[in-house]
Amino acid sequence: MKNVILTGDRPTGRLHLGHYVGALKRRVEIQNAGDYEKMYVMIADAQALTDNAENPEKVRQNIIEVCLDYLSVGVDPNKSTIFIQSQVPALCELSFYYMNLVTVSRLQRNPTVKSEIQMRNFETSIPVGFFTYPISQTADITAFGANIVPVGEDQLPMLEQAREIVRKFNAIYGETLVEPEAVLPSNKASFRLPGTDGKAKMSKSLGNCIYLADEPDEVKAKIMSMYTDPDHIKITDPGKLEGNAVFTYLDALCEDKHFAEFLPEYANLDELKAHYTRGGLGDMKVKKFLNAVIQSLLSPIRERRKEWEKDIPAIYEILKNGSERAKEAAEETLSKVKDAMKINYFSDEELIRAQSEKYGRR
Ligand code: TRP
Repeated sequence: MKNVILTGDRPTGRLHLGHYVGALKRRVEIQNAGDYEKMYVMIADAQALTDNAENPEKVRQNIIEVCLDYLSVGVDPNKSTIFIQSQVPALCELSFYYMNLVTVSRLQRNPTVKSEIQMRNFETSIPVGFFTYPISQTADITAFGANIVPVGEDQLPMLEQAREIVRKFNAIYGETLVEPEAVLPSNKASFRLPGTDGKAKMSKSLGNCIYLADEPDEVKAKIMSMYTDPDHIKITDPGKLEGNAVFTYLDALCEDKHFAEFLPEYANLDELKAHYTRGGLGDMKVKKFLNAVIQSLLSPIRERRKEWEKDIPAIYEILKNGSERAKEAAEETLSKVKDAMKINYFSDEELIRAQSEKYGRR
């Protein structure tokens, strides 16, 4: 079987370095390796609305931001179908049928939904649409027959949910849907990049992100004020690596070639870490190196973004074409699903014949 790949992001803000190392980078690698039949990249506006019902303008504005970020990191509209979730009506229909295959308590146990409910302080006023978004995400994935879903670690519970729904659907209605598999970043430090403040996660609401579109001086200022080891006060003090965001970023981002280019006194990250833990290496020097690494990563991304920004109508055209193609593909799956569930009354001659016979006519 040839691979079908699908991924997506909610358009609630610009994409940041955490998105890049956690998912985007891998997506572009997979896209360029070419070992697939189809690759879909979805802007999940309908999912974004599940907790932004009162903020539709935010979602609307961020569609173009996310798409610019996609194009600037190298998502290629000639290789990938980039589309907008809400423009594919079959996704809603599929979700409605999948809802019958999932219990409320199963959704309540989903760890990602749990922590998101906490983060948003929903307490007892959880919007139903938000609560059920893992089901709609299953529709996103299965509508395209995706078998590979490159995502960040936080999405694993969604994939588990999707696999359960697929198995249940196929067991009840016959082999119809494809069971998807998550593909995580190749490097462990990239699973979840901490915020610049050292908190568990880069998040817009915590204000601790380095955005892909940030200008060089903004990036530098954010890196220079990053959280390190609070006990590393004098340069001669031994420094700690655990919980030290600067080193986590280096783990995720730096390669030996960066040392040759920017910090040739060390051959690799292990040597730098050894010096830091031994004492005698100041945070400033490490931060300057990290800045050089990140600037060299972001600079081509920023340049490509500026090129695309010159032709916004072309981007809407890409999204429109992609959405049309996605709509067709999803409709095919929906039709198979309805056949399997036998809710295809008018195209089922056998049904009409059998019902006629019941009433004594042939
Ligand atoms: N939940 C994902 C996120 O928050 C976005 C998303 C929606 C998605 N549908 C998807 C990701 C389908 C992968 C597959 O980033």
